[in-house]
Amino acid sequence: MRGFISAYNFADGSLAWRFYTVPGDPSLGFETDALKMAAKTWNGEWWKLGGGGGTVWDSMAYDPELDLLYFGVGNGTPWNQEIRSPGGGDNLFLSSIIAVRPETGEYVWHYQTTPGESWDYTATQSIILADLTLDGVKRKVLMQAPKNGFFYVLDRQTGELLSANNYINITWATHVDMETGRPVEVPEARYKDAPFLLYPSYLGGHNWHPMSYSPLTGLVYIPVLDIPAMYGQPDKFQYNPGVSNVGTDGVIGGLPDDQAERDAIGALVKGRLLAWDPVKQQEAWRVEYPGPWNGGTLATAGNLVLQGTAAGKLVAYRADSGEQLWDFATQTGVVAPPISYELDGEQYVSVNVGWGGAFALVFGEYVQAESLPNVSRVLTFKLGGKATLPAVSWNPVVVFNPPKSTASAETLALGHATYQDVCMGCHGLNAVSGLLIPDLRGSAYLWDEKGWEAVVRGGLLKDRGMASFADNVSAEQAQAIRAYVIQQAQRGQALRENAQTKGASP
Ligand code: HEC
Repeated sequence: MRGFISAYNFADGSLAWRFYTVPGDPSLGFETDALKMAAKTWNGEWWKLGGGGGTVWDSMAYDPELDLLYFGVGNGTPWNQEIRSPGGGDNLFLSSIIAVRPETGEYVWHYQTTPGESWDYTATQSIILADLTLDGVKRKVLMQAPKNGFFYVLDRQTGELLSANNYINITWATHVDMETGRPVEVPEARYKDAPFLLYPSYLGGHNWHPMSYSPLTGLVYIPVLDIPAMYGQPDKFQYNPGVSNVGTDGVIGGLPDDQAERDAIGALVKGRLLAWDPVKQQEAWRVEYPGPWNGGTLATAGNLVLQGTAAGKLVAYRADSGEQLWDFATQTGVVAPPISYELDGEQYVSVNVGWGGAFALVFGEYVQAESLPNVSRVLTFKLGGKATLPAVSWNPVVVFNPPKSTASAETLALGHATYQDVCMGCHGLNAVSGLLIPDLRGSAYLWDEKGWEAVVRGGLLKDRGMASFADNVSAEQAQAIRAYVIQQAQRGQALRENAQTKGASP
């Protein structure tokens, strides 16, 4: 895909302008001088076919005084730069923050956080505009904590980098060089010759859950994801239209067979609320959570920070110290940020609760144990509120009843690889679901070759959200996936029986 941002006229909905974030087919001529410049930073053919990536899927901010519109640009497609732009190049304007004139879309400046990105390190995350005093000088700044793990403070008039520091432990770069404004990469991080354990993962050190800034405390409140991921070069890459084409090896990026190793990875999967001092570029305080994918934050003038959690709470902290003051059991995970508003002289806080999204689906192995239902509601609070929530029933257990595993090693390998490439994004890494949609290891279709074909390639359950994958997997691949899932169901059943004979909880 080729990313862009469009402006439409209020009056009649007509297109006012469009800013493409990556250059397109050069034989058609470049839309702007900015794209002519950007084209010099690309190699290979992908970008010419309109496939460089760079979607603008989250934050924008407007400064009326400077009359500038800011937006963040996403990752490359495929992620893997070896495939996308062989031989390298910065691949502008991927993973950049861009300032344009809002009336015309005219380019003013850009800052690229991750030149030649190869890890899904989008720079689409929340953009916050503030006035900060740096070295005794008051500056109009723009702040962002994109996926790549660095916290950036830019001069928002010029795009000049004022400071950058990592807000989580990272393995892909050592620091940002203040002379060049570029990250100093660890060469192995490009996983060209060998797989590499990346911090942050493709989910980022911070994803779309909004961070907030309190002028009262001078701190930024970041919902941090602290998760590693293995990246590896695929043996061969073939574009498969209609499904994700990230260009990394899905089996290498999956989970190890050995359960002790899986548990060890689980121990590395963390999340926290981080209060960050953007002037000192260092941590002020933190609250560790049992896991990642907690909600966006809200800072209020009453010295509070409010945040919902993956574990099903809405919590209020003192914004200056992190001391917990209050919490409420939401019965479901919270990923959205709360808002605060006044109505007839009273202050309210509302939050959209409900559990789901990329982490909840993909990382089933680490979600399942504490799994919560998805109960989608808007909850509203005020001082002295007395309402209670009706009870919710939820029984998140996979019932294992698989047939015998009889497939050859070759079939299992084909099923594993295809599953990781095509099914994993919804049904979970290595066939362990986060239980928001069926865990395939408990499916009765494992017994039914024809039924499986009807669901996976025939679209039998398409009205319930399981589309036909006939264009993406062959009949042979579909049955190989079934064989792989049977094997994984046998594995899950054996682990549970083992745990039960040892007296542990299943
Ligand atoms: C975009 C998300 C998505 C992807 C990708 C996806 N599925 Fe599904 N799948 C679903 C949903 C949602 C359901 C539940 C439908 C329902 O409620 O009946 C489902 C249900 C199923 C079921 C029925 C399970 C049961 O016992 O009820 C099977 C089998 C299945 N999927 C196989 C696959 C396979 C194999 C792949 C990869 C080729 C795949 N799915 C990819 C979303 C997805």
